[in-house]
Amino acid sequence: MPSQPGSRRSEHEAGGAGRRLDRFEGERRRLSLTSESPDRTLAAGRAIGSLLPPGAVLSLEGGLGAGKTLIAKGICAGLGVPDEVTSPSFVLAEEYAGVVPVLHFDLYRLESVDEVARIGLFDAIDGRSVVIVEWGDRLPAGSLDPDVRVVMEIAGDRSRGITIEGRGGFLDALERSIS
Ligand SMILES: Nc1ncnc2c1ncn2[C@@H]1O[C@H](COP(=O)(O)OP(=O)(O)OP(=O)(O)O)[C@@H](O)[C@H]1O
Ligand SMILES: [Mg+2]
Repeated sequence: MPSQPGSRRSEHEAGGAGRRLDRFEGERRRLSLTSESPDRTLAAGRAIGSLLPPGAVLSLEGGLGAGKTLIAKGICAGLGVPDEVTSPSFVLAEEYAGVVPVLHFDLYRLESVDEVARIGLFDAIDGRSVVIVEWGDRLPAGSLDPDVRVVMEIAGDRSRGITIEGRGGFLDALERSIS
């Protein structure tokens, strides 16, 4: 029986963007985007998630309501997570099954670095799981060393600045997939 169009889309196509990378390479640089709607932010997240290699560690930064959880939802979708992604604020961490395990942490309520160790953040960084950390900038400098930093800024009611810092190979692929 012929498969329905779209019913057997690969993990790459499911993200609607480029081919998943094997690794991060190239010089670190930044890419700045503007999102004019929640859907655009979700799409940017999906493009990011569909390129991330296994083991990627991400820090999502920016003030309350800037859109960190929304872009995390897109990133998870691009990683093939079928579940509804919610804000882990009250539990500090959520785990999802995507193309690899995806761990979503929220450090907003973080009281101490010991607590981060207790909730398993450092153990989650295992070279295979993708680890997404909201408020990663609340950790002492140098303790996370994310592959990708996403900094969200409120620019208007529905407008958000999104600055993505990472290796050149990843940002080149991301630019191609969102252009
Ligand atoms: N362009 C946009 N991109 C992202 N979010 C937007 C945009 N325009 C409006 N919003 C709204 O901003 C809010 C972002 O909420 P979200 O929970 O993602 O923020 P957050 O950074 O995770 O906040 P918190 O620090 O409280 O966890 C949502 O209500 C969303 O609908
Ligand atoms: Mg949030």
